[in-house]
Amino acid sequence: MKILIAGFGVVGRSTVQLLEQQRASLYRSHGLSTSIVGVLDSKGAAISPAGLDPAELLAAKEKHGTVAAYPAHGVRDAKDVDLIAASDAELFVEATPTTVRTPGPSMERLKAAFRTGKHVVCVNKAPLAVAFPALQELSKHNRCRFRYSGTVGGGTPVLALAEEVVRGAEVTAVRAILNGTTNFILTKMDKEAWTFDQALAEAQRLGYAEADPSADVDGIDTATKIVILANGVLGRPCVIGDVKIEGIRGVKKERVDAAKKANKTVKLIARIGPDGLSVRPEEVAADSPLNVGGSLNCLALELKTGGEIFLVGRGAGGPETATAILRDLLEIWHTRGELES
Ligand SMILES: NC(=O)c1ccc[n+]([C@@H]2O[C@H](COP(=O)([O-])OP(=O)(O)OC[C@H]3O[C@@H](n4cnc5c(N)ncnc54)[C@H](OP(=O)(O)O)[C@@H]3O)[C@@H](O)[C@H]2O)c1
Repeated sequence: MKILIAGFGVVGRSTVQLLEQQRASLYRSHGLSTSIVGVLDSKGAAISPAGLDPAELLAAKEKHGTVAAYPAHGVRDAKDVDLIAASDAELFVEATPTTVRTPGPSMERLKAAFRTGKHVVCVNKAPLAVAFPALQELSKHNRCRFRYSGTVGGGTPVLALAEEVVRGAEVTAVRAILNGTTNFILTKMDKEAWTFDQALAEAQRLGYAEADPSADVDGIDTATKIVILANGVLGRPCVIGDVKIEGIRGVKKERVDAAKKANKTVKLIARIGPDGLSVRPEEVAADSPLNVGGSLNCLALELKTGGEIFLVGRGAGGPETATAILRDLLEIWHTRGELES
């Protein structure tokens, strides 16, 4: 299977490394042989229909800061969408940064991929948050598979497990903790009695939070994920503008202390219910399974018959997200014939 990847950062590089590490077992167990025919980063691209050498790709990126330095196959000054449209890749992986305020370029890349008949694995949440229903329609129209497991839960197969849980069941409510950074901060405020600023500084020191932490602490990242869950698992068409969002900047130490006295803890909870979608800090019983610590994620699905089911796992990380991409890739590999017949 010929693969084209946009984004060669933590996730893109981990994906190429994982495909290389698993090369023999992917062929043995699945009859799958992969070839990376193109990689795009913010400064250029490396393109070869005959396949690029993963070690050379990683070396070019490490030494020169761009895959455009790949010997003989580097490309500069070309438009992403033109490279994608011209590629004979069967699968396009979108792994550029999630920029919810400027989703345009990633949308254009996905459109170019679908319009030229490529299956897509997307870990960039921005296009899904702003246009999930339209993208799903475009993929169907072009008879392409569209998978996005890595957008929610990193390596924990939250979406796949949730799809399994809700099959044939009526979901009455969804509550979820979907952002490791905010959960880390709130856990520190609860367990160590830190202020928000102290906990944020520690999250930044440990590399959990970005220098600009607004997407996490203002609830945007969580909102993108609940939109993907609502569309992808519950079949409920929505976009990020439909979510009422309140982040955790306003959570004071006094609120966390008061919750603790009442045997509760404050968590950033994403909800899907009859009243719509929301993200906001909420008090949760200390003994609830939703009270996960550190950077863990948790999804609680309440079923009309069957009670509440909890899924817990690590939410992020390069190798974890690459594992989700590989899972999607294998699903596409095994089901692609259904669309072609
Ligand atoms: N890291 C995680 O744990 C994780 C987990 C789940 C989902 N995700 C999602 O996965 C995506 C990638 O995350 P990451 O951690 O790998 O980010 P990252 O390390 O910042 O890498 C982003 C990559 O995208 C490239 N890029 C930026 N603009 C581009 C453009 N216009 N055209 C082509 N390439 C472009 C960057 O190029 P340069 O190298 O030239 O800067 C870089 O290689 C994000 O959407 C993120 O939300 C990440």
